[in-house]
Amino acid sequence: MQALPNLILVGPMGAGKSTIGRLLAAELSRDFFDSDHEIQARCGADIPWIFDVEGEAGFRDRETQMIHDLTGREGVVIATGGGAVLREENRRLLRDSGTVIYLYTTVEQQLKRTAKDRNRPLLQRGDREQVLREMFALRDPLYRATADLVVRTDRRGPRGVVGEIVRRVQR
Ligand code: S3P
Repeated sequence: MQALPNLILVGPMGAGKSTIGRLLAAELSRDFFDSDHEIQARCGADIPWIFDVEGEAGFRDRETQMIHDLTGREGVVIATGGGAVLREENRRLLRDSGTVIYLYTTVEQQLKRTAKDRNRPLLQRGDREQVLREMFALRDPLYRATADLVVRTDRRGPRGVVGEIVRRVQR
């Protein structure tokens, strides 16, 4: 029997990957895995601690290991971290395991949604808007190259986004 493809959410910080992923999984009666959440549970420490002690490279190694493990599942919904597309190995694993959905949002929305955030080390240094703009320039092409579908999350609430994803993946 053929494996049931996974549904994988990629996109920047503040795009709504975790919220939308949880709702999407419930809507389709599938299991949901949030890569950042799983990394923290496995490590027994939060993301700021991992960045402090192991650096970004240490976090990225844990992330790649987690993407290996999660993409080995079948028929689940996976929310990735915003930097998951940085490594070619991750992009290939994600593409090969199912339908990849890019949750697109604007830097303006990201600024609003991450305003009070203390759990994202990459936003704690320097000017947040400049960091987000630089990330967008680097990563938007990578999200697009990895994804089968692009869905905007800046113009409607999470339930509307889930409805659009369900319509488009079931086509
Ligand atoms: C990161 C995004 C975060 C988390 C880590 C690094 C990034 O995930 O993986 O702080 O490089 O964009 P979210 O996109 O869920 O915030």
